[in-house]
Amino acid sequence: MGKLWGGRFSKTTDEMINEFQASIQFDKRMYQEDIAGSIAHATMLAKCGIIPESDTKAIIDGLQGILADIEAGNFSFDVALEDIHMNIEKRLTDRIGEAGGRLHTARSRNDQVALDTHMYVRKETANIAKLVLDMEKALVEVAEKYSDAIMPGYTHLQRAQPILFAHHMLAYFSMLNRDFSRLKGVYERADIMPLGAGALAGTTFPIDRQLVAEQLNFGAVYNNSLDAVSDRDYILEFLSFASIMMMHLSRISEEIILWCSREFSFIELDDAHCTGSSMMPQKKNPDVSELVRGKTGRVIGHLMAMLTTAKGLPLAYNKDLQEDKEGLFDTIDTVKFSLSVYSAMIRAMRVNQELMLKAVREDFSNATDLADYLVKKGLPFRQAHEVSGKSVHYCIEQKKWLMDLTLEEFKQFSPLFEEDILEEIKPETCVANRNSFGGTSYQQVELQIKTAKEIMKNQ
Ligand code: ARG
Repeated sequence: MGKLWGGRFSKTTDEMINEFQASIQFDKRMYQEDIAGSIAHATMLAKCGIIPESDTKAIIDGLQGILADIEAGNFSFDVALEDIHMNIEKRLTDRIGEAGGRLHTARSRNDQVALDTHMYVRKETANIAKLVLDMEKALVEVAEKYSDAIMPGYTHLQRAQPILFAHHMLAYFSMLNRDFSRLKGVYERADIMPLGAGALAGTTFPIDRQLVAEQLNFGAVYNNSLDAVSDRDYILEFLSFASIMMMHLSRISEEIILWCSREFSFIELDDAHCTGSSMMPQKKNPDVSELVRGKTGRVIGHLMAMLTTAKGLPLAYNKDLQEDKEGLFDTIDTVKFSLSVYSAMIRAMRVNQELMLKAVREDFSNATDLADYLVKKGLPFRQAHEVSGKSVHYCIEQKKWLMDLTLEEFKQFSPLFEEDILEEIKPETCVANRNSFGGTSYQQVELQIKTAKEIMKNQ
């Protein structure tokens, strides 16, 4: 296959080198962007009097034909043509002749690949935003469905204080909500148009970059050509967004895996979202959560790889930058898949309210409430903490829970205890009393749900 850049060479490229340096295997997924970008570029070239109008017409017809061929599966990509840009340009020239050879006027593959990747990231960012929003919705739905379920809240994975399960779900809503706003930032930085930078320094032709930006719906144009062709910040920001978001999904995965273990039994996942074992007939494994937790490492790896690739590069374009795509594409696919399966799984999981409550009852996670009770009767908190600790110690020795103690037993530790103490340390009261803004009380959680719905309306 004759190269589009073959002029100064006297030998053909080694077969192995062709294969090694090609990106067509993975950048072919940007064919729509490449064609749309070329149509906008050709339109601009004619409007600015750089190529004849009739050539632009032929170019657009030819490119539309190629688009149809690719979508119908009638286009064979050639590794010897390196990448999506040259595969399409070569085919165009084969189809329409000389006019095709005018398309690359005032353009380099360096600004072309930047344009395609910006458009691709912009498109996928919008798709992923919908999936993040759906995951946010799923979390709020589950919070509402189990609005009165009480569970132990943990610190150090030790039972700490009773909380509402809904409160726990809404914590993840808050994380996903921040992910959403990070994604908006990615979109803004992807929405800058690099074409017209040429190989690195601009072009000698009287081009109109604004006109290209308008046709492709870009909000802004890069104002430094060196930056335009070498900037990969928007990819790094996408990978950062993805790493943080996957880290959030990985944390909820860890909890789900624990919660559906026999030891916790707080939730049960739908059969449709679990798998069995080829040897142990009784098994029902939370593979989705495990895989999402596992894939988080892979996404973080892509971020590290891209940072490492970019950190030593002199301006402007270097072929190293071709390495930006596989990690980016894999991250896009992984994030989309993970979000989709997760939303479905969260919506279908069943919460075992009785067992969660039992875990709260048969524990000392109301010990803070016992101390707070005494503080409200006038005892300084440090002393109240001591009294509550001693009561817990007594219970452990007596093999009892705080709820089992009689008023007389309580009074051994402080004369401030009165009849109402038993009511005060019930799980429901412990939850209801944590009514500070952002706390776990029924009222605060209801407010959080309301706020979440308002936030989602504007997303
Ligand atoms: N396939 C290349 C990439 O992905 C396109 C740009 C190549 N430019 C060049 N001068 N070799 O980065």
